Amino acid sequence: MTKKPSHAHPAPVEQLTPLEARAEHARLHEEIAAHDRRYYQEDAPTISDADYDALRLRYQELERAFPELATAESLTKTVGARPSEKFAKVKHTVPMLSLGNVFSDEEVEDFVARVRRFLNLRDGALRFTFEPKIDGLSCSLRYEKGRLVQAATRGDGYEGEDVTANIRTVDEIPQRLRGDNLDVLEVRGEVYMTHRDFAALNARQKEAGKTLFANPRNAAAGSLRQLDPKITASRPLHFFAYGWGEASALPAKTQLGVLEALRSYGLPVNPLTTLCDSAEEMLAHYRAIETQRATLGYDIDGVVYKVDDIALQERLGFVSRAPRWAVAHKFPAERATTILSDIEIQVGRTGALTPVARLEPVTVGGVVVSNATLHNEDYIEDKDIRIGDTVVVQRAGDVIPQIVEVMKERRPHGAKPYAFPHICPRCGSAALREIDEKTGKTDAVRRCTGSLVCPAQAIERLKHFASRNAMDIEGLGDKQIEFFYDEGMIRTASDIFTLAKREAHMSPRLAEREGYGETSVRNLFAAIEARRKIPVNRFIYALGVRHVGETNARRLARHFGDFESLRETASAAAPGSDARERINSIDGVGPVVAEALHDFFAEPHNEREIDALLKQITLEPMPAVALASPVAGKTVVFTGALERLTRDEAKAQAERFGAHVAGSVSKKTDLVVAGPGAGSKLKKAAELGIEVISEDEWFARTGQG
Ligand code: IVH
Repeated sequence: MTKKPSHAHPAPVEQLTPLEARAEHARLHEEIAAHDRRYYQEDAPTISDADYDALRLRYQELERAFPELATAESLTKTVGARPSEKFAKVKHTVPMLSLGNVFSDEEVEDFVARVRRFLNLRDGALRFTFEPKIDGLSCSLRYEKGRLVQAATRGDGYEGEDVTANIRTVDEIPQRLRGDNLDVLEVRGEVYMTHRDFAALNARQKEAGKTLFANPRNAAAGSLRQLDPKITASRPLHFFAYGWGEASALPAKTQLGVLEALRSYGLPVNPLTTLCDSAEEMLAHYRAIETQRATLGYDIDGVVYKVDDIALQERLGFVSRAPRWAVAHKFPAERATTILSDIEIQVGRTGALTPVARLEPVTVGGVVVSNATLHNEDYIEDKDIRIGDTVVVQRAGDVIPQIVEVMKERRPHGAKPYAFPHICPRCGSAALREIDEKTGKTDAVRRCTGSLVCPAQAIERLKHFASRNAMDIEGLGDKQIEFFYDEGMIRTASDIFTLAKREAHMSPRLAEREGYGETSVRNLFAAIEARRKIPVNRFIYALGVRHVGETNARRLARHFGDFESLRETASAAAPGSDARERINSIDGVGPVVAEALHDFFAEPHNEREIDALLKQITLEPMPAVALASPVAGKTVVFTGALERLTRDEAKAQAERFGAHVAGSVSKKTDLVVAGPGAGSKLKKAAELGIEVISEDEWFARTGQG
């Protein structure tokens, strides 16, 4: 994916003569413009975001040192459009979730054991489908009464892109299904490119002087995400169906049955799909397919095992974003050796200093890698990783490449142990590792202490604030925030909401700047306006308080109802206070969060910023739990021997209905579900006057018959 940026070891800008600076600036201009074109127009970036950022940074530094270079044509005056704005958005009525991964035989055995335990199926028959895991991109095809009406990419799982026109050019995907047609059937599967077509496409690209695709998956993704369906039509894409989303009815009661039905409707289903009755059989098939891998003609990155019985799939349900009833068994991660040319320190939103390895580009599993994560200071020290070392890089699936080993025998003479900086490379403030007062343990992360003065932290905080799961301001992505920050137009979150007013008095106006037309400015301001009303949980999350992720933000919003009560309590939550205790006692929220909240609200600067923000925006109550069930928000205790459910299953089910499951009966309990043999908990419930129901009544109450 990445190529070495041209400025690998540049001289400091101050040492350049004006002539040298001009020449380098011109060279960088060409290079960055070419990358922008590849990224925005051709969907085929050839360098990593970090390398791109480095080029931009150097370009800006040159302009800062030699202001005469910052002409109207300068790229610092342009902001690219979000590539995803090209396609209309499609909301998935049934989310497109991902799969948990396993790598070893034991993990496969654990998976089978876990499924059995969850279902309380000690030795009964339990069947799994075995499917190859196609390495392409997933796509959801919506058929209504047998006609293809819409096709969407996965996107973030909840919202994807409308690629209907492009999917219609894929020969293998029928426009009309054969046989008797359901009202609605969303077919899910993988779009991919064969090895042969990939090679031919790259040959054509090369001939035309265009960028080559790194692997068939990128080629398939780039081809499907083309604005011009004619281009997609010229790129041979294929499809394998492996599942479904919304369906008015299902044609079978098993996974394999549905896949066979899909095949009979005219959809391609992978011919290697089969059934297994045990972990041993699954592993035997896995090994067989591993040996066939190279001759299949298309990329697979592992296999998928799924519980075949759909009723059991439903009982098993999901944990966070992955099904409990399926797992991906991936092929081992691929490795390669290369040279570590530098270690760079990135500064995050909370000041965390993260080391990143810059590598001599190397191909690992079909992708060019030139960066790897180094996690933290201790990781570098434990492995004694030094600049100049030959290292083993590993890439597993979509995970960021890692350095797993240092080849000490190849270490260059004079290589010194890496000295992790003790001052922030961006703002010069001291960078410290906190020590936990109670445990005496030193935090793995070193943090910049200059949260008020550090530009890196300010920019990262703004990025978080505007991001999709926080305030979700479309058109205000990372690049745009950097631009507005660098230009001094947005320095704090509240500045976002005063931008339009201030911009009216600016000269030149934003729309007059290169890369920012009338429409994009109008769209950006409209997107900002649209967020002046925001659910309180999103706002809490957007503030970026340490340890307060989306889930905790929801818990806090649910508990406090409105923002002011949270703020009052958190401000008063000094150690040992009642307020601290109140936060501590919120379900799922612990002392670490309570302390972080107190620290955050104790900071006058944060108070001021919140006041400024609340002058601009209106907070709305948190949207109700999606599933309006009679047990939503209730605390439930299960006790005694349950007959229809295992304990794990009962818990998962209750959580699915929005209830919270506790282990013991207390004043906070709303409902006790008791089976035969329930003892002390039942007694306690009676004492406290808490409602007790049977397992059957639980099923009735939750609308499960
Ligand atoms: S099932 C909820 N089956 O792998 C179940 N996925 O790592 C979701 N994939 O996003 C997926 N072959 O793009 C499933 N036979 C198969 C698959 C498969 C490839 C992809 C798919 C998914 C990703 C999850």
